[in-house]
Amino acid sequence: MIEMSDVWKEYPNKTMALSGVSIKVNKGEFLYIVGPSGAGKSTFIKLMYREERPTKGHIFVNGFNIDRLKERKVPYLRRNIGVIFQDFKLLPRMSTYENVAFALEVINTPARHVKRRVHDALEWVGLLDKAKMFPNQLSGGEQQRIAIARAIVNNPAVIIADEPTGNLDPETSWGIMKVFQRINERGTTIVMATHNKDIVNTIRRRVVAIEHGRIVRDENKGLYGYDD
Ligand SMILES: Nc1ncnc2c1ncn2[C@@H]1O[C@H](COP(=O)(O)OP(=O)(O)OP(=O)(O)O)[C@@H](O)[C@H]1O
Ligand SMILES: [Mg+2]
Repeated sequence: MIEMSDVWKEYPNKTMALSGVSIKVNKGEFLYIVGPSGAGKSTFIKLMYREERPTKGHIFVNGFNIDRLKERKVPYLRRNIGVIFQDFKLLPRMSTYENVAFALEVINTPARHVKRRVHDALEWVGLLDKAKMFPNQLSGGEQQRIAIARAIVNNPAVIIADEPTGNLDPETSWGIMKVFQRINERGTTIVMATHNKDIVNTIRRRVVAIEHGRIVRDENKGLYGYDD
């Protein structure tokens, strides 16, 4: 499903963010990426959805050869990957419904399918009753649920999330994790970078720790392993 082999990432300012990372993730796995600030977690994630390109090495995600993928083919990749961020990245002038529908419209989904699929995605995250609201009228947890609905509306094989609970209080974070667990239970692969020790130590899944751009630990049902 996801494979990286000997991946290096040097940013233009010569920062070496990843050094020789190799990993395989099977379909349906749930993976936490942990590690200190600046370790390379976000870089690892950005390489998977082609926000950044590796300096060296090979990356495959859901059958796409990411490091060779032509720019005009990137939209096809993005149809197969849902991405979720710490700061939600919703469009402020669009309603809940429109934010989710937009993800379908940009990939030219026939209009006759849009309504049903947005409805289903919003129902899935429990936000049907907020379809007409705008992001600034909603709580952080609700906004993140919209972002999740937007990420799953294409029914992607993989969901990639970079600190999805980073801006949320503990109780709201648990609610968001419940949604991720349900998405994973229907067979979707999930890769999640997180600093949330309680969540990692309670919902036990595969834990990959990155330090100084290298994978230093990879354990099934692992623990968070840091004090913060
Ligand atoms: N666009 C960029 N240009 C130059 N250096 C960068 C860029 N993005 C990240 N870096 C550097 O690469 C290293 C890894 O950064 P990254 O954002 O991947 O860390 P992280 O593990 O996600 O940290 P955090 O837990 O704070 O989010 C850091 O040294 C960072 O300063
Ligand atoms: Mg980060």
